[in-house]
Amino acid sequence: MAIPNSAEEANLNANANSDRAPLTTSESASGATPARTAVRTATARTPVRTAAVIPAAGRGVRLGPGAPKALRALNGTPMLIHAVRAMAVSRAVSLVVVVAPADGAAEVRNLLDEYPLADRTDVLVVPGGDTRQESVRLGLAALPADITAVLVHDAARPLVPVDTVDAVVAAVRAGAPAVVPALPVTDTVKQVEPRPAGEPEPVVGTPERARLRAVQTPQGFDRATLAEAHERVALEGDGATDDAGMVERLGVPVVLVPGHEEAFKVTRPLDLVLAEAVLARRRANDGF
Ligand code: C5P
Repeated sequence: MAIPNSAEEANLNANANSDRAPLTTSESASGATPARTAVRTATARTPVRTAAVIPAAGRGVRLGPGAPKALRALNGTPMLIHAVRAMAVSRAVSLVVVVAPADGAAEVRNLLDEYPLADRTDVLVVPGGDTRQESVRLGLAALPADITAVLVHDAARPLVPVDTVDAVVAAVRAGAPAVVPALPVTDTVKQVEPRPAGEPEPVVGTPERARLRAVQTPQGFDRATLAEAHERVALEGDGATDDAGMVERLGVPVVLVPGHEEAFKVTRPLDLVLAEAVLARRRANDGF
């Protein structure tokens, strides 16, 4: 994945951090402005424009009572704002679509207006659905026609580092239809026959830990592939806990790139403590 197979692919990699069309070799070498227009016209291909869709419409009941999870504060700033910034800080991302709770889209819009981003990033807010899958589908439906690559990033992973975002984008731009950041698992995992809470659960298997990975977001996709997955898998009525899982069901290959421990999902109260500790460490280390 990381090794380009062609000069063209190398060019795509080199341009992963910018939204301009990939340069041809002669453009890169000469850098001469008059020649540039002519060369681009001769070899023009559709520029990759990348958007990030952030599903943020969940209630977050496992965090306990209070505001919807995405609006909970981390060191005084709502989790959603951290997540939006984490996408916008990548130079590859030119549009962020926030999928808000259906009854809270106006509130989310106002909140985003309080925390403006750099001019190069646009932000749209759309109302979400009853499931994460439905919320992502509604976010995809709001994308302009010229978006060709899409990141889907959970608001519940507010601290993903920009290097992880860029690694996902670079792999998509190098030609992978679906890319997922992932880490090895540290716990041994058991497969069980689920029982109601409190009842002992029979173990039915122990997958080999070395072959397991815990997946994170942002997951990156060729837009057409993800749109097809949302059309077809939703029609089949099958649930999926992540977008890459839906693409897998189409039979399209999904590849992994290294994830990051700071891209963890804020799910339970202890995760809030950890997230604030990470922010405090960042501030101490680099004045973030
Ligand atoms: O519930 P879970 O933590 O798996 O949710 C993952 C992400 O999906 C969260 O960012 C949450 O806000 C979002 N979500 C959504 N619409 C729903 C349910 C969850 O956007 N109906």
